Amino acid sequence: MVDYRAQIERAKQHFGEILEQQLMRVEDIKEQGDFIDYRSLEKIIIGVVGGDGIGPAITHEAQRILEFLLVDEIESGKVEFRKVEGLTIENRIAQRKAIPDDVLAELRKCHVILKGPTTTPSKLDPHPNVESANVAMRRELDLFANVRPVRVPSEGIDWIFFRENTEGAYILGSLGIDVTDDLAVDFKVITTQGSERIVRLAFEYADRNGIDRVTAVTKANVIKTTDGKFLEVAYRVASEYPHIRFDDWYIDIMTAKLIDKARRTEFRVFVLPNLYGDILTDEAAEFQGGVGTAGSANIGKRYAMFEAIHGSAPRMVKEGRAQYADPSSIIRAGAMLLDHIGWQERAKRLHMALDICGQYEKRLVMTGRSTGATGSEYADYIMSTLILDDLEQKWQAYQNRAF
Ligand code: IPM
Ligand code: MG
Repeated sequence: MVDYRAQIERAKQHFGEILEQQLMRVEDIKEQGDFIDYRSLEKIIIGVVGGDGIGPAITHEAQRILEFLLVDEIESGKVEFRKVEGLTIENRIAQRKAIPDDVLAELRKCHVILKGPTTTPSKLDPHPNVESANVAMRRELDLFANVRPVRVPSEGIDWIFFRENTEGAYILGSLGIDVTDDLAVDFKVITTQGSERIVRLAFEYADRNGIDRVTAVTKANVIKTTDGKFLEVAYRVASEYPHIRFDDWYIDIMTAKLIDKARRTEFRVFVLPNLYGDILTDEAAEFQGGVGTAGSANIGKRYAMFEAIHGSAPRMVKEGRAQYADPSSIIRAGAMLLDHIGWQERAKRLHMALDICGQYEKRLVMTGRSTGATGSEYADYIMSTLILDDLEQKWQAYQNRAF
């Protein structure tokens, strides 16, 4: 028998360090106050991060629309847009950091961030293996709730996903250990406090919006300790909202139920650990027209970041097609940003314009190549829809026709 004692000791030490960090994180969560109140700020700083690949092109279009909607506030100094440079794969690799320190410092000076997709190297890529900028940003700014709505009125689909964003299989995704050449171990972390804050946010959302059902998705029958804790906490929080129905499903059958046309329309609010949320939200977005159409909000108590849910599509850039990339997802994220910082009415109009242009009227379509519109033409189309006097009536008419 080979003597593995040294390797095991090394792994134990690594594990010990991880536990210390995680216990400190739990203490930090316990000490957190309430959500920031944007109304009380003299100035709201919106950081804009272009990202990689098609990111800068589509983010530019989203910023253009937001600036159009906030023109008075920019003028009066209530809102400032601030470009944050340097979150590119080249710079991240050069500095061997998921988020270079100076970039993180700039991000911390903003209140909310609009972020284009950033390239995430996989372990098998030739790049040095830097961590995903998304995952790092969610952790560094403690953006614990990943909120992703998916709506397909013609199919009766009206879902919103509350994906836990700072724990689960992700938080230590870059801190797994090769104990020996043959044995690799990753870690998954779930905490009481981390579960409670995301479940509560989902219930509060349901409560505020008159939604009478919340559904948790785990694999607690197999992953008993961590998913088990998430579920236990979910049931405890649910008991505080007796007027809201709560049920729980396993991730495997839930991926199946999402394609069950007879059943899927009954679900409204989902709450789930990180990796399951990652998978289920891509599946869900597909019904709405693909990940290119879905927006994503990453919400914490102090910061919030809004992003496209798709990748950076480096191939489109290589083939000279970046200007044909669909900006809908990041514009959707922009609408969520507006809603979050207090301009609900304008956010609603932007959502309606996106629905009309993307799902119903489709006067311009994006094909990703020169056979379709450019992102900039499409953004103009959205803006011209946005300013229609009868926008709401038009949107309502489409909704009614859908059923
Ligand atoms: C998402 C993305 C990210 C994730 C990647 C890019 C790390 O897929 O936002 O869903 O897995 O969270
Ligand atoms: Mg994903």
